[in-house]
Amino acid sequence: MANLPKTQKALVQEEYGKPLAVKTVLVPEPSSGAVIVKVIYAPIISYMKKVYNGERKYRYVNPLIPGTSAFGKVVAIGPDALLLKEGDLVYVDCYIRGRDDHDAGFLLGLSQGGGQASQKLMEHWINGTFAEYVKAPLENVYKVDEQKLCGSPSEGGLGFKLEQLSWWMAALVPYGGLRSINLQAGEAVIVTPATGNFGSAAVLVALSMGAGKVIAMGRNAEALSALKKRDKRIETVQMTGDLQTEMEALQAHGKADVHFDISPAVSEGATYLRAAIQSLRHSGRVSLMGGFADTLPIPHRYIMRNDLTLRGKWMYTREDNLAFTKLLSSGALNIKDVVKVHGIFGLEDWEKGFDLAWDNGRLGDLVLFAPRGESNKV
Ligand SMILES: NC(=O)c1ccc[n+]([C@@H]2O[C@H](COP(=O)([O-])OP(=O)(O)OC[C@H]3O[C@@H](n4cnc5c(N)ncnc54)[C@H](OP(=O)(O)O)[C@@H]3O)[C@@H](O)[C@H]2O)c1
Repeated sequence: MANLPKTQKALVQEEYGKPLAVKTVLVPEPSSGAVIVKVIYAPIISYMKKVYNGERKYRYVNPLIPGTSAFGKVVAIGPDALLLKEGDLVYVDCYIRGRDDHDAGFLLGLSQGGGQASQKLMEHWINGTFAEYVKAPLENVYKVDEQKLCGSPSEGGLGFKLEQLSWWMAALVPYGGLRSINLQAGEAVIVTPATGNFGSAAVLVALSMGAGKVIAMGRNAEALSALKKRDKRIETVQMTGDLQTEMEALQAHGKADVHFDISPAVSEGATYLRAAIQSLRHSGRVSLMGGFADTLPIPHRYIMRNDLTLRGKWMYTREDNLAFTKLLSSGALNIKDVVKVHGIFGLEDWEKGFDLAWDNGRLGDLVLFAPRGESNKV
């Protein structure tokens, strides 16, 4: 077993909504069912500054080491680890589920989810990835084929930069939704809204899964036009706020098989959700991944008469994660031309990192923490 230091640097929030601070804390110890990962890159999600200053009212417990998913190297394993070994490059996934209660689940370093069981689980795994070392459940740690993903194309690799891989979660979220409604190769997909962080990722992920056509719907004409240039299978439709106009524009591309929605809460009541659902063929499927808080007006008669399936989805499953590693290794999702890293920060520069991430939350935008510094990655 590697000789781990006793202490490490980590970002800590002692009190809810109060500023973070870099502190010296204990390095976690390995145990059954867990591994210790030395963090190389931990992405800063665009809206994190609004989460940790309390504005978005995410529920979590303090003191907290924030930080969700990360890339790093395994430095210590529990006695029951079978595949993982020291030195492996891994993706640490932030969606932790109850082992004996599948109803419970929370997002590492970010949100305790719903219910007391989820809160109890978060209290156990309270230390997120904005630290030099993170302890994660075995089943949340995925070995990455470094040679294949980051190796040079002349040697059979895909030539992705290690920091680009941190876009993993942005792509994995819509991948989970699209898999949950069983997207098939050749099918036509409507994505609403298609210009945000996850929505724009959904467009490219659907194509990588073999979608025949993606109809990207949004209100931002410039972003839609940039998206369209990426692939000839992408069509775009402008949101207008008029149900009839939106339905006509969508159906000009024929009826779709699948609708993927990842709306923000603020667009509750907008016409596009209904327009998209009513532009599906008989037996069409809808993935609802958005942040709507409460009751939605849905076109019940159309759903009933056309045998539509509406499926809610929070995040993804472990199987989605495993399948995603294969998708990425296949080269079908070419992140090289998509992901742009705008900045890499040490933990002490957390405010600068949060601000830059807030200003860059579009397709492929990434801002990262390198808790051990860029020159000391592993
Ligand atoms: N289910 C899950 O597992 C899961 C996981 C992650 C996130 N989410 C949810 O996904 C939502 C979106 O997250 P994100 O990070 O992609 O957000 P984002 O980057 O801020 O994107 C928001 C999108 O919504 C559009 N929009 C905003 N206000 C609108 C309005 N009034 N009418 C029409 N379109 C509007 C934006 O269009 P413009 O480009 O024109 O600004 C943009 O396309 C969040 O609410 C979050 O809760 C769910």
